Amino acid sequence: MRSSFQHATRRLARLLTFPHFPSDYANLVNPLHGRELRGRVVDVARHTDHTEVTLQPGPGMVTDFHPGQFIGLGVRVNGRWVWRCYSLTNAPAPAGTRHDSNPGGSNHSTGALLTIGIKPVPDGAVSSHISHTMRPGDIIRLTQPGGDFYLPTPLPHSIAFITAGAGITPVISMIRWLAQEHPTGRAQLPDIIHVHSDSRGTIPAPYQRELTDLAAERRGYTLLPWNSSERGRLTPDRLRDLIPDITSRERLACGPQPFLDAITAALPGTRTECFHSELAAGATDGGTVTLEGTNRTFECSGSTSILEAAEAAGYALPHGCRMGICHTCTAHIVDGSVTDLRSGHVHGAGENVRACSTTPQGAVTVREAPA
Ligand code: FES
Repeated sequence: MRSSFQHATRRLARLLTFPHFPSDYANLVNPLHGRELRGRVVDVARHTDHTEVTLQPGPGMVTDFHPGQFIGLGVRVNGRWVWRCYSLTNAPAPAGTRHDSNPGGSNHSTGALLTIGIKPVPDGAVSSHISHTMRPGDIIRLTQPGGDFYLPTPLPHSIAFITAGAGITPVISMIRWLAQEHPTGRAQLPDIIHVHSDSRGTIPAPYQRELTDLAAERRGYTLLPWNSSERGRLTPDRLRDLIPDITSRERLACGPQPFLDAITAALPGTRTECFHSELAAGATDGGTVTLEGTNRTFECSGSTSILEAAEAAGYALPHGCRMGICHTCTAHIVDGSVTDLRSGHVHGAGENVRACSTTPQGAVTVREAPA
């Protein structure tokens, strides 16, 4: 009875507001309301090599995620919405403290804030925008938390976190959550060894003090920074020297793809996540994309996805999430090669790729492929 009344009310609202949606008018009153998930920027903390953004999520956004997951973030750059994925760095609110602001809906919003960590990439459209232009009060678009890089249940007794560069961001969320769930004097932290590799041998500024203090104050958390400029690359053999019982620990690693490939080859069973960032300009020169069976060709720079470049040229390609999750934009490479903007992996003729997260390496011909 109640649902048919709600349905009738929604239909009436839709008729009264046609050709727009009721949410378009709600948006005029509260910009956090809209057809898509939205958030308001609360704070932008710019550090030397990292920017941490605090967001107030709008209605419908889930905030009880798994520590280690990421969200999609859409910002308007030069009049177009562009999307990238970033790791959440805060810990979800403790169980029992969450409020459900939308009890009738399938999703719920706790009213809690979310934080994301971003390493600016020269000429990276979104990270540059965030680092230089984003201000508190800006309204951005969001996607629900996703990804399967998180701690298993039940929680292991001993853990090795292995991070490199910006790969520290999802692990920060896990560490914050572990510290929150095991408060001082009440519960012992699991036995955690955290090795972080960086060309300066330091922890990124937003997290340096926090992790150093945690290591000093809490038995159970050991922080081992690795200076790759002085000591060379962090290899699996060097990891075994640093953590003699590494094979018996639950291992979670996040960093650039070659770093992860070496770790998983030597230490199978390691949970990995390639950090989500934009390729630096010049990582690929981009190229000309031809849509097979049509007369359509367009140019795509090396820091733009094929999907975005097609749209800029006036060609609408099928898409959904725009962030490499739903596979709606799957394309088959007929000729040439493309680079994955998130992992740096190169894919060639005969492979299926996602147009929303790949960019051409020179001339490439693609056709739509079933998702
Ligand atoms: S649009 Fe969803 S994977 Fe590309």
